[in-house]
Amino acid sequence: MTAAGTPPGKAWSGRFTQGADPAAEAFTASLSFDRRLWPYDLVGSAAWARALARAKLITAEELERLQAGLEAVRSELEAGTFPFRRELEDIHMNVERRLIELAGPVGGKLHTGRSRNDQIALDERLYLREIIDHVDGGLVDVERALVAQAERHREAPMPGYTHLQRAQPVLLAHHLLAYVFMLERDRARFRDCRARVNVMPLGAAALAGAAFAIDREALARDLRFDGPSPNSMDAVADRDYLLEFLADAAILGMHCSRLAADLTLWATAEFGFVEFSDAFATGSSIMPQKKNPDVAELIRGKTGRLYGNLTAALTTMKGLPLTYNSDMQEDKEPLFDTVDTLEAILRVLPPMLGSLTFRTERMRDAAGAHYSTATDLADYLVRQGLPFREAHEVVGRAVRHAMSRGRELGDLPLEELRQFSPLIGGDVYAALTVEASLRARAVLGGTAPDAVREQLAQAKARLARGPGA
Ligand code: ARG
Repeated sequence: MTAAGTPPGKAWSGRFTQGADPAAEAFTASLSFDRRLWPYDLVGSAAWARALARAKLITAEELERLQAGLEAVRSELEAGTFPFRRELEDIHMNVERRLIELAGPVGGKLHTGRSRNDQIALDERLYLREIIDHVDGGLVDVERALVAQAERHREAPMPGYTHLQRAQPVLLAHHLLAYVFMLERDRARFRDCRARVNVMPLGAAALAGAAFAIDREALARDLRFDGPSPNSMDAVADRDYLLEFLADAAILGMHCSRLAADLTLWATAEFGFVEFSDAFATGSSIMPQKKNPDVAELIRGKTGRLYGNLTAALTTMKGLPLTYNSDMQEDKEPLFDTVDTLEAILRVLPPMLGSLTFRTERMRDAAGAHYSTATDLADYLVRQGLPFREAHEVVGRAVRHAMSRGRELGDLPLEELRQFSPLIGGDVYAALTVEASLRARAVLGGTAPDAVREQLAQAKARLARGPGA
């Protein structure tokens, strides 16, 4: 039935009289990147064969031959002997053609009531479901590494910053735990996304729904989906599940980039708060003394790709008329790049975090310097009955005075301090230490050792449930 001049093999050769232009064929093929979806294509195809059998569209014996054929295809794919053919465009056509070659004409029954439009949506959803579970495990590992460092440095003070200016003393554990709670929200976002991914599109066919009595509920159960998609046009036209994943990944990347940036800053000679182990740093080709925090820098840098992939996919989808359009084939490369980037980040972060050496003495010294407890003097005056706004003014003047003397507030004699307010008494010095400043912030979520211990316990309790919880 192949028309003269048409190379045999295209699934649509019946309608065509001319073969594809080689440049067009190369341009439209997605095989080079969608081949990695083959495990999901096989799982989906086997389930579709079972659905066809339940609908009595194929016999039990045909089902067996289809399943055996799909297993033979799997063996070739696993062994690396599968004959990938670009002229067959994508992974779906490659698998189907090989199935027909290995199982005979019964292989041609598999696509009954199915379209590549619902097939690709299914493959992507099966793939993403697995990836999300894997990302969750990676996030748990990162959080555990942060919690372990927080636990090791439960009482170590450091300067807290706003505007990158020394602000108030905090505990290093408090700072590290801030990231744990951010990453916990990332896990929750992916969990939410998973619920919207976990919807079964097969049966939508090209767009209007299959013309055969497929039990889509049973098929959804077979593939462990929460249920079938309610509208066949929606099922083949939308990619919001994929966009949501890319958005969640971009937010997670943003969190990781901030952690990486903090550590990179802290590793400078100017800060000297942390040292990277040699295993997670690189040297300079010219400057013999250098040790560069490359891993952290690249975690920060790779976040750019995560944003780019989200932007690319959103832009591809923008304004597309319903339902399926070939533009949507462009969803896969951004998706795979984000998955690969994310998994690389999550693999390297836990051991890198575990290998950090914090210079707690230097952090402690910095925590008490540069008027970091000025707010505590204001709070002291408030406790003596002065309205906070007035106390702020008083302490501002005292700081200006201390600066002109080149002293810290706590180094000024009592008579000098009392020039600014008669409410200041000899007990003020005890209020101006780093320890007192920390202890005072015992509010829930604050930096007092007891409050941080509370946060640590909360983080550990969540992590004890492990991935998927
Ligand atoms: N390779 C296609 C994709 O990635 C599969 C669906 C193609 N459907 C079609 N009618 N061309 O989107």
